[in-house]
Amino acid sequence: MFVALRGAGPAYMRLFCGLRDAITTGRIEAGTRLPSTRELASDLKLSRNTVMRAYEQLIAEGFASARQGGGTFIDAVHVQSTTPAVTKAKPGPLPLSQSALRMLPAVANNPFMELRGLTPVRHDFMYCIPDPSLFPIQEWRRRLSRAIDRASRRSLSYDDPAGLLQLRDLIAARLIKYRGVRCAPEQIVVVSGAQQALDLICRLVVEPGAPVVVEDPCYPAARAILAAGGAQLVPAHVDGEGFDIASVDASIDATCRLAYVTPSHQFPSGAVLSNRRRKLLVEWAARVGAFVIEDDYDSDYRYVGPPLQALQGMSPEHVIHVGTFSKSLFPSLRLGYVVAPHQLLEPLISAKWIADWGSPAHIQHALAAFIDEGWFARHVKRTTSVYARRRAMLLEAIEREFGRDVTASGGDAGMHLVLWLHRLKPEHVGPLLVSAREHGVGVYSVSSFYERPPERAGLVLGYGTIPEARIAEGIAILARLVRARIKAKAP
Ligand SMILES: Cc1ncc(COP(=O)(O)O)c(C=O)c1O
Repeated sequence: MFVALRGAGPAYMRLFCGLRDAITTGRIEAGTRLPSTRELASDLKLSRNTVMRAYEQLIAEGFASARQGGGTFIDAVHVQSTTPAVTKAKPGPLPLSQSALRMLPAVANNPFMELRGLTPVRHDFMYCIPDPSLFPIQEWRRRLSRAIDRASRRSLSYDDPAGLLQLRDLIAARLIKYRGVRCAPEQIVVVSGAQQALDLICRLVVEPGAPVVVEDPCYPAARAILAAGGAQLVPAHVDGEGFDIASVDASIDATCRLAYVTPSHQFPSGAVLSNRRRKLLVEWAARVGAFVIEDDYDSDYRYVGPPLQALQGMSPEHVIHVGTFSKSLFPSLRLGYVVAPHQLLEPLISAKWIADWGSPAHIQHALAAFIDEGWFARHVKRTTSVYARRRAMLLEAIEREFGRDVTASGGDAGMHLVLWLHRLKPEHVGPLLVSAREHGVGVYSVSSFYERPPERAGLVLGYGTIPEARIAEGIAILARLVRARIKAKAP
């Protein structure tokens, strides 16, 4: 049975809300016997305990009852189907493929789905979103309309699936100069953001059931893409030195062909992968014959220390470097790139062609002009100084309001950091998020990004979009709520 998890809060509440919606809209009919807790837990990749608690909540709120002899059944009273009974044909089983059946729970159980239902709050420490008000929209518009005015027969037709050569040249030049990437422009494939890059690579490399090493905690979209592709996710330990390939059991080496990492700014912990661990990782990849995806999502922004070399520079034939313009420009642009190892280049271009034939030509032309005429570099420079100021204000406010009760870490790059709350437990964070939102403060739990539950309580705090004037105010409210929760010491 497929049920979309809805709303915010603990998994059992989200499952309860999903079931309740399905009941009240008539998708699950009165009298239906719900699947056993074991069956639903296995279908949705949840724990049995979570399903049991969701069923108990349904019974407590009168949506279902437990019958003698076993089974939980939907009660009639709440079903408000608007479809007249006569026209309501009994739907047969949906003819979905195995791949779709893997994809649906992978998407529904993703923490990003929870964000969709959230109402805006005054002090939102949302992570990974750049400030749209800083983007030079006039300059972008000029280049976009020029690209349309100058559109050639070729650019209005089907073009090279790998992308516009001029743009690939510019991307390669920038990566070689600033990131130490070793590549020729022909190795760049323009894609619809890191999301498509990960999906295409997964289609090319992952056999259903094969192990893929991921960070724990991990970027949820990567986890969802890999799970949808049938990968058996093998979580690797992450600490202050970043991802540790040595924490993974060597028994997977024979069948593992892929690892996914965020070496420059681990998502969400913010750790930078140490040199020692980088070496171990590329040695492992060479030894077992695996590719390593280097997701370089926010390395345009670095505030502390010298620029970091990309992992790709250490092992260009084993590392697939993935970059995006979602942070440096804006996410809805949906443009990113892959630096493909030679072996993977043609398969990747074929996969891109199968997916959508290629990314929109006029947007690639506009972006090439935007980079070539210096606007990209100017914009990154300007936004780096704005985000650096917001980051400093955030760190000051944290120091002032929390003192030694917390550690802020992982904020040397990107647009977020993690606030570890020493005096709370992970189970206190859910209620804290709810009361913070009620007080107009949006903060996000680090726990939802972990495969294995973390031992510490932590919050992800982004500073990309929050106005400067609201940073100190928001942290003061949060600190007050944390202190109240420490006093109460109850969820
Ligand atoms: C780790 C990571 N990778 C990639 C992305 C961006 O992906 P896209 O280029 O699909 O917007 C994000 C966005 O938040 C991210 O956090």
